[in-house]
Amino acid sequence: MINFLKAETSPISPWSRSAIVFACVTLALAACQPSTDQEKSKLINHRSVTAQDAQASSSGLSELALLGKKLFFDPALSGSGKMSCATCHDPANAYGPPNNLAVQLGGADLKTQGLRAVPSLRYVLNRTPFWSKQFVSNPVERLIETDSPPVGGLTWDGRFNTLHEQASAPLLAANEMANESPNSVISKVAKSAYATDFAHAFGQNVWQDPARAFNGLLLAIERFELEDASFHPYTSKFDQTLKGQATLSASELKGLQLFSAPDKGNCASCHLAVSGADHSAPLFTDFSFSALGAPRNPQIIANRNRQFYDLGLCGPSRIDQQKKHEYCGMFKTPGLRNVANRRVFMHNGVFNDLESVVRFYVERDTKPEKWYPKNSDGSVNKFNDLPVNLRSNVDTLDVPLNRKKSDSPALSDEEIKDVVAFLKTLSDQ
Ligand code: HEC
Ligand code: HEC
Repeated sequence: MINFLKAETSPISPWSRSAIVFACVTLALAACQPSTDQEKSKLINHRSVTAQDAQASSSGLSELALLGKKLFFDPALSGSGKMSCATCHDPANAYGPPNNLAVQLGGADLKTQGLRAVPSLRYVLNRTPFWSKQFVSNPVERLIETDSPPVGGLTWDGRFNTLHEQASAPLLAANEMANESPNSVISKVAKSAYATDFAHAFGQNVWQDPARAFNGLLLAIERFELEDASFHPYTSKFDQTLKGQATLSASELKGLQLFSAPDKGNCASCHLAVSGADHSAPLFTDFSFSALGAPRNPQIIANRNRQFYDLGLCGPSRIDQQKKHEYCGMFKTPGLRNVANRRVFMHNGVFNDLESVVRFYVERDTKPEKWYPKNSDGSVNKFNDLPVNLRSNVDTLDVPLNRKKSDSPALSDEEIKDVVAFLKTLSDQ
């Protein structure tokens, strides 16, 4: 297997976040800025979306978004007749999971397990970049940085670039809303109370063309997700602090400092914590992919098969990167807004409280026996949710994941509590 994670020719980790920042700051600044008109116009579009966020109000929804809202909340649009998008993406829980199940139950009988924890739909939807893998073209950068991690795309493995593409997946997935086909979804819409609205939006003849109708349905859901202010309220204590309307407590402030300090939590190297140049508030993700080696979750029935592994970027849910063994085990960095209100954490929902997640980062390498089961010979089965030959993909270079067993942990118990206190300030009020 080619392992460019630890390419011996490179003195600095190709994936090290500090190396990337270093490259941008110290080398020609132009290399990090948009050069072509196309790239610039992408940024302009991005800015206008962010400005729109601040002004959006639920009453200001377009006709299409209002229709999308009805679709998003309609349980009739499922094989069971009981499951809507909001069943898993609960607005009362920041559009995240409604309960403490690692993965939700769906399907026609509402008994079939999903494979992954439900992400929150707040904040990220209108700012998730398309999936991309940058290859370094600047020869000077290439000297210090052989490669950089992929970024972007929706879901834990970034396999959809747009919200309308994504929306068809849960509607048709056998373990989620479990509709037999796009046609069967549309026949349910035709019988709904909002069928007239639907025909008003897409034309009276829309029912004769179910493919076009299904496409319209996906676009309406996307408009709702992009326009409704409830997806990006910015009402957390942290946001109030940015606006000068609140002050962090001593512990919360210490937590933020530890979260950002490259030699302590170093969390902000992936979960970005600073505002954008356009004053867009931070989302606590850079949308990049990493393999952290989260422990295998025995609550997921698929994991009873010892040959089965959810390898994130390299499959099995995503199919276009399966030959890229160096991507196996990588999942997208989630945003951390409202994370303190979740009851399941990581792509496989293996953790049930926030403090455990922070502690996992700190103790994964210093106390592995606490996090992973034992092999039959008594040794620790570290990174047990990856096949043995792919375990070297796990990030052991970025602080705080760079420890050896004999090293002291990156954060003390008290410092872990401070980081948790800070993370709680990211919950919308
Ligand atoms: C049975 C639970 C369930 C239902 C119902 C459901 N989802 Fe999801 N949703 C998930 C899970 C699990 C993921 C992560 C999937 C993955 O990584 O493969 C997800 C991911 C997403 C994402 C990507 C978020 C991100 O940050 O990348 C969006 C957007 C989304 N869902 C929208 C919807 C819409 C729209 C509907 C209704 C048409 C819906 N979901 C119905 C469970 C559900
Ligand atoms: C190298 C990049 C990186 C660093 C550094 C990092 N994270 Fe993460 N974080 C991730 C990725 C990737 C995931 C998802 C991993 C998975 O599901 O397997 C994640 C998941 C999480 C989650 C779970 C969120 C959820 O919705 O389930 C929390 C909480 C979290 N990180 C907090 C932190 C804290 C606190 C620190 C610092 C101590 C930190 N992270 C450092 C990349 C990083």
